[in-house]
Amino acid sequence: MAGAALKPGERVLDVGCGCGQTSLIAAAAVGESGRVTGVDLSGPMLATARARAEGLGNIDFVQADVQQHDLGEGAYDIAISRFGVMFFDAPDIAFAQVHRALGPGGRLAFACWQGGAESEYYQVPRAAVAPFVGPDEPDDPDAPGPYSLAEPGKVRALLGGAGFTDVRLERVDEAAVSGADAADAAAFRLTSPSFAGLLKDLGPEDKAKAADAVRQALIPYETPDGVLLKAPAWVVTARR
Ligand SMILES: C[S@@+](CC[C@H](N)C(=O)[O-])C[C@H]1O[C@@H](n2cnc3c(N)ncnc32)[C@H](O)[C@@H]1O
Repeated sequence: MAGAALKPGERVLDVGCGCGQTSLIAAAAVGESGRVTGVDLSGPMLATARARAEGLGNIDFVQADVQQHDLGEGAYDIAISRFGVMFFDAPDIAFAQVHRALGPGGRLAFACWQGGAESEYYQVPRAAVAPFVGPDEPDDPDAPGPYSLAEPGKVRALLGGAGFTDVRLERVDEAAVSGADAADAAAFRLTSPSFAGLLKDLGPEDKAKAADAVRQALIPYETPDGVLLKAPAWVVTARR
């Protein structure tokens, strides 16, 4: 949100807004003279977002694929996204769409993950399941996925190709909260698409053992503020 530096009256597009947490923060920042539109593919997540935003007059949500949906030309002052821009099949098209949706002087501010190799958030549970599914293998860096924008050169090329200027990446080395305790965090990680896919061919006994291994591996990261694992990210900002 610091990278976005929202001002009262601004029109905000929240790309891949999920359950709407950042859309709500943005709506409070731009106030009643501003407007926030959250766009996401997921109906169930948007249902949560809409319930959270009930009664607010300056926020709406659209279920659409940002790669295809007409976002409107020059309709926004700023596009924001918290970890919602790494999953595009065609990121060049998606970022060109976002660029078109911004008016003159428009800004882009998003968070994406740095590489999985540096991330305890990824490595700790992944190492725990290695005895059951084998060691981690490098992903295709061009495939959509959480780490698809980890490489600064790729981010600059993509955004530059879409028409953005003044592209900046700021390193943010915060810890991420995975859950209230190890059991909660393990349950969350095990239902994430990447983990569920990894374990899908295991029999019920091995699946239970792998789940317990993840829980045990997360116990050392329990704190009074929840399970904290280092999750290095980039805050990327650019101008139209
Ligand atoms: C990791 S979640 C982040 C959600 C939210 N921004 C947050 O921080 O809580 C990524 C979100 O991007 C959405 N998403 C992925 N590809 C999309 C696309 N092509 N168009 C719209 N939303 C997309 C997903 O449905 C998901 O809600």
